[in-house]
Amino acid sequence: MVRHVKKITSLTQSEVRHVLSLAARMKAEPARFENALWRKSLLMLFEKPSLRTRVSLEVGMTQLGGHAIAYMTGDSPIGQKESYEDTAAVVSRMADAVTARVKSRSQIDGLCSATVPVINALDDFAHPMQMLADLLTIEEKKKGLTVKLGFVGDLANNVTYDLIRSGWLMGFEVRVAGTGEIEQAVYDECSTTVNRFETAEEAVKDCDVVYADSWLSYGVDSSEDRLRQLMPFQVTSTLMQHAKPDAVFMNCLPAMRGQEQTADVIDGPQSIVFDQAENRLHAQKALLVALLSGDIC
Ligand code: CP
Ligand code: NVA
Repeated sequence: MVRHVKKITSLTQSEVRHVLSLAARMKAEPARFENALWRKSLLMLFEKPSLRTRVSLEVGMTQLGGHAIAYMTGDSPIGQKESYEDTAAVVSRMADAVTARVKSRSQIDGLCSATVPVINALDDFAHPMQMLADLLTIEEKKKGLTVKLGFVGDLANNVTYDLIRSGWLMGFEVRVAGTGEIEQAVYDECSTTVNRFETAEEAVKDCDVVYADSWLSYGVDSSEDRLRQLMPFQVTSTLMQHAKPDAVFMNCLPAMRGQEQTADVIDGPQSIVFDQAENRLHAQKALLVALLSGDIC
């Protein structure tokens, strides 16, 4: 049975720990792994834009001795003349793994009929590769995952959902405040209550990590009205004072200064957003090696 990664909880806690530990070793000694995916090919399907995901996967495959193909779905028959299932059958005979950034989880489900691993590279429900990088970054900065994380902003959101799942899976507290409704499915999966607060101040109170995601997710409503509703959940330096004094600020990026956070926060001393972005590379290399070498099977 091939393993697919649709969301962070597609992996067990011990598999996540394995990937994080491998990622840390790969980051420290990249040369030791330069043939780990010798001549393996990764197909990267993109229906939405990307900087980090695309570049980190392509560079990562090259560093491991393999190759990555960036394929824009707009250039292909997928979803129009060809079903996701047929696409999966074809690429299973050519590529060793597939990543897909698509609009809807049903498209990921269709691709998961593939006989090679499929990794969700962001849909409407999850962003598991981002989570692995985030967990690696938190471990590095906080010397472990015994943390309290406060997320503020758009709650009906792929990254929010996977952060809630990450806290449940890895055993740390996630507190949220913002606009929109978290889908019931996320509460059901996590068989735990999500700590939702009315105000941003309450959500970040005494947190080790304050986390924001773009208010303008790829393809969402960018109306003035929506942005106005989100404004009470902007991360400002005043809000950061409600978190622990040594709290770090994270954002999966891309970021807009003046929207989900002010410039002084993202460009300030508590911000670790570029370490977080770099860790996309290390975490994904580890995930690909673990999946393709059978460590996760
Ligand atoms: N964080 C993230 O997934 O970035 P990209 O959209 O640039 O890939
Ligand atoms: N919530 C954002 C994440 C971007 C990495 C989006 O869906 O665009």
